[in-house]
Amino acid sequence: DKGNYKHFMAKEIHEQPEVLGHTLSRYFDYSTNQARVAGAEHLNFKNLSRLIVTACGTAYLAGLVSKYWFEKYARLPVDIDIASEFRYRETPVSGQDTALFISQSGETADTLASLRYCKEAGAAIGAIVNVPESTIAREADMVFPTIAGPEIGVASTKAFTCQLAVLAALALQAGRERGVLSAEKERELVAELTEVPSLALKALAAESDIVKLALPLSKADNALYLGRATSYPLALEGALKLKELSYIHAEGYAAGELKHGPIALIDENMPVFVIAPHDAIFEKTVSNMQEVAARGGRIVLITDARGASESGNAAENVVIMPEMSDIVAPIIYALPVQLIAYHTAVFMGTDVDQPRNLAKSVTVE
Ligand code: F6R
Repeated sequence: DKGNYKHFMAKEIHEQPEVLGHTLSRYFDYSTNQARVAGAEHLNFKNLSRLIVTACGTAYLAGLVSKYWFEKYARLPVDIDIASEFRYRETPVSGQDTALFISQSGETADTLASLRYCKEAGAAIGAIVNVPESTIAREADMVFPTIAGPEIGVASTKAFTCQLAVLAALALQAGRERGVLSAEKERELVAELTEVPSLALKALAAESDIVKLALPLSKADNALYLGRATSYPLALEGALKLKELSYIHAEGYAAGELKHGPIALIDENMPVFVIAPHDAIFEKTVSNMQEVAARGGRIVLITDARGASESGNAAENVVIMPEMSDIVAPIIYALPVQLIAYHTAVFMGTDVDQPRNLAKSVTVE
């Protein structure tokens, strides 16, 4: 049931404040402001020298965000790869390892094969899934469900942000267990995460501005998305969503990689989305943005009020997000990225909930 929405995807985007609230309250104890992940003790965070994370598509991009978190908050190195590469790479895995698999459907063939490869090698297996009765959930040692509810639109939206919520909890739990995250810092981060549902609601208020971007974007043949740190996986996610929904060719890049090749593509026909909350590396991203502007690229900057006021006049359009802390930013900035792809596709008249050539559950490799 789409309720009052035209598409399942719109409904699922708008459900995010609520389902993020459900998922967060399952994994965080708000009475103590601690991550409280049942079953995490089996992941052996304390003694790990690295964590293996594997998934496909948008779920892989959630994993990529988590690499920044596990490394920053838990000093735990993360080896992350897409499952179709991981499974055939003959990566050494042993009984000392822990491997985490992320999948909305819990049925993705390459992710499942990667899980079996690690299980065979004796690793501890954790799975973040949205379908609790799925094959991946059944075969994992520990299941960490996302409480997103059924996701019908082929493009993953609410499952992605709920995966991020679970991964944030696991990263903070790992930080505590490894003795690198102080109780005080953990309380502060959890308090920030409690703001996610209300921040998500505020982020959705940018929708009326985002709708206006659809017309100019619909005329482009290509688009670029740029970001640094946890905004880099979001740049990849923005490009993936735009491709699959509107069939406009799009690429995501780490902003610092621009000058190593893709800057050659920039001209006045190239829309460039820059994802840049006002954080410690904001200045670096702004300087990349100015390089794009100097070559005539048409910039849409997604940032907060401070970022907007410190970005000069390089951007043609600015999408304003509320102010927020670093740890919540990748969860919240996913929403404008989803809305840009959604509204462009609606404007162009493509089949938003069922894009051509795609299936919700990829059970063949
Ligand atoms: C993109 C998208 C896909 C899935 C991928 C993995 O919007 O939805 O990239 O994320 O096919 O699917 P799951 O999470 O079911 O393993």
